[in-house]
Amino acid sequence: MRNWIVGTMLLALHAPGWATSFVGADAAAGQSLHSKQCVNCHAQQYGGPEGENIYLRRNRTVKSAESLAQRITLCTSMLKLELFPEDELNIAGYLNQRYYHFP
Ligand code: HEC
Repeated sequence: MRNWIVGTMLLALHAPGWATSFVGADAAAGQSLHSKQCVNCHAQQYGGPEGENIYLRRNRTVKSAESLAQRITLCTSMLKLELFPEDELNIAGYLNQRYYHFP
């Protein structure tokens, strides 16, 4: 019984860590895909090196890890890029690490 209580408390303490976004993403692979597939269009419309202003603007639309993943899917399907889910994960990991910093 006591172990059970201690165990539950430990679980509760650790819970936030489990929400870690984009586990297993290869950010380097994501960065290179991003440069090839995503930068041109964003840079033309929003500017900044690597088109990064779109991610840094004050009124950016992405507010959570979920919405980041959704937005990437939206942009890729708009382009008919047909990236593998793994590619999208890698790009998400890269963008999150560099710009969004969702937990
Ligand atoms: C054909 C042009 C185009 C291409 C190519 C493109 N996007 Fe986008 N993307 C847009 C536009 C337009 C918006 C912004 C819409 C708005 O103003 O809210 C956007 C917004 C985004 C945002 C949200 C930025 C925010 O507000 O926080 C993300 C993330 C994103 N794109 C990811 C990608 C990724 C990843 C790729 C490459 C796989 C990609 N986009 C390729 C047009 C494009």
